[in-house]
Amino acid sequence: MRILAIPGSLRKNSSNKAILQFTRTLFPSDSTFILYESLADLPHFNPDLDDEQVVESVIQLRHELKMADAVILCTPEYAYGVPGSLKNALDWIVSSGELMKKPTSVISASPSFMGGDKAFASLTLTLTVMDAHLVEGSSLMIGSVAQKLSSTGEVTDSYTIAALKQMVKNLIQAALAQV
Ligand code: FNR
Repeated sequence: MRILAIPGSLRKNSSNKAILQFTRTLFPSDSTFILYESLADLPHFNPDLDDEQVVESVIQLRHELKMADAVILCTPEYAYGVPGSLKNALDWIVSSGELMKKPTSVISASPSFMGGDKAFASLTLTLTVMDAHLVEGSSLMIGSVAQKLSSTGEVTDSYTIAALKQMVKNLIQAALAQV
């Protein structure tokens, strides 16, 4: 099982990245879990570049998505929306279609008790129009995230841990059903 995990934050001490790092530990040990940390290397999406000269960073992202059996996106909310760098990455995938039918989980996390609900809704809408397979019972909004992580980035909240375990279980099941 190969999982591609994409954090929507570029921050070194990102809580979204920490959640994905923790989620890695919930997969069977023989899984390959790749944390994609190259959103900042992607050029601004431009359909002209897509037609003429696709750059290496875009080729690499498309390759990683193609190779993955399942994808997890974990995003903060900026100004009630999806961070531009994450939306930019998704824009590069619209024409190439690597997310089509791909078993996908969406997580949003925020210091606000709302859990980044607007970014979550927006990202879900984008993935739906891209025909990703949003796995039922495999998405999660995490509010008050600062209180749910230890100083070293471990998820410590038991409800969140249980929800992440269920998410992983459902995502694996969906991925296996597709093989
Ligand atoms: C935020 N933050 C934020 N939070 C939220 O719940 N709704 C929002 O609309 C915004 N908007 C926003 C704009 C800008 C410019 C910044 C810098 C921050 C707070 C944000 O959720 C918080 O910084 C998270 O910790 C970011 O996630 P990472 O980097 O910890 O993964």
